[in-house]
Amino acid sequence: MKILVATEKPFAPAAVSAIKAVTDKAGFELVMLEKYTETAQLLEAVADVDAMIIRSDKATKEVLDAAKNLKVIVRAGAGYDNIDLTAATANNVVAMNTPGQNSNAVAELALGLMVMAARNNYNGKAGTELSGKKVGIHAYGNVGRLVGNIARGFGMEVLAFDPFVEKSVIEKDGVKVVDSVEELYSSCEYISLHIPANDKTKNSINYALLNKMPNGGTLINTARKEVIHEDELVKVMNDREDLKYYSDIAPTNSDFLTENFADRTFFSPKKMGAQTAEANIKAGKAAAEQIVAFIKNGDKTFQVN
Ligand code: 3PG
Repeated sequence: MKILVATEKPFAPAAVSAIKAVTDKAGFELVMLEKYTETAQLLEAVADVDAMIIRSDKATKEVLDAAKNLKVIVRAGAGYDNIDLTAATANNVVAMNTPGQNSNAVAELALGLMVMAARNNYNGKAGTELSGKKVGIHAYGNVGRLVGNIARGFGMEVLAFDPFVEKSVIEKDGVKVVDSVEELYSSCEYISLHIPANDKTKNSINYALLNKMPNGGTLINTARKEVIHEDELVKVMNDREDLKYYSDIAPTNSDFLTENFADRTFFSPKKMGAQTAEANIKAGKAAAEQIVAFIKNGDKTFQVN
């Protein structure tokens, strides 16, 4: 069995060793394609592999069609919007993610961005504190729950909106559940986004919603850029000189936003949320173990297609 790790943004070396330990033990061959720059390189690498591990790498129909022997693809991470699930299913490929494995890293970064915004990008001017402020968790999954936990440590009041999670489950964590997304945005100085990018959520964070935020409101995005309506973000940033937007995923119009709202924005040059040794090891190892369990025992836990 040949397992490919295709990572345009590579794992930490310790994570690659952890993956190799799992595949070696199973008697599988491991091949690496790191820091590739052309789709052609990926198409060539997938040609004869039985399984593959990716991160935000795009598993398009073209890639999946080219992977003639592929049986399973695992996104080492949470969001699988980078996999064409229809093409995977059509090619009899099981697609999986590794939910929860990199969540703490992303949650820590979300709080890091909040501190950075509160302290004016550390520019020497007096800022504000997180303590006593309200943070609204928009979608209470693995990352959202951890953001809430850490935020409580900062002395923040935590609110959440997630129609897919039982109210009582969220409340058990000491989090106030609000009844609508509008109520969340109008109640909180900070909003931390944790919704996936799909047909329902794309462009959903729009002018009307952001304009509900209280004075000095800050939107933190460690989720996906596609959920933001970028034109309406520009409009609301123009109309509301108090709003800030800090994102781990640079928007398409990041140059324009940085030029016009330099002291109210921050964008990571490359998505950094899950980019820690610990998260890489956990997600990479889980991905390798899931591949071995699927190939050896047909275990489809975490299948998403
Ligand atoms: C995820 O969905 O798990 C995160 O966005 C991490 O993505 P990355 O593996 O590309 O850093």
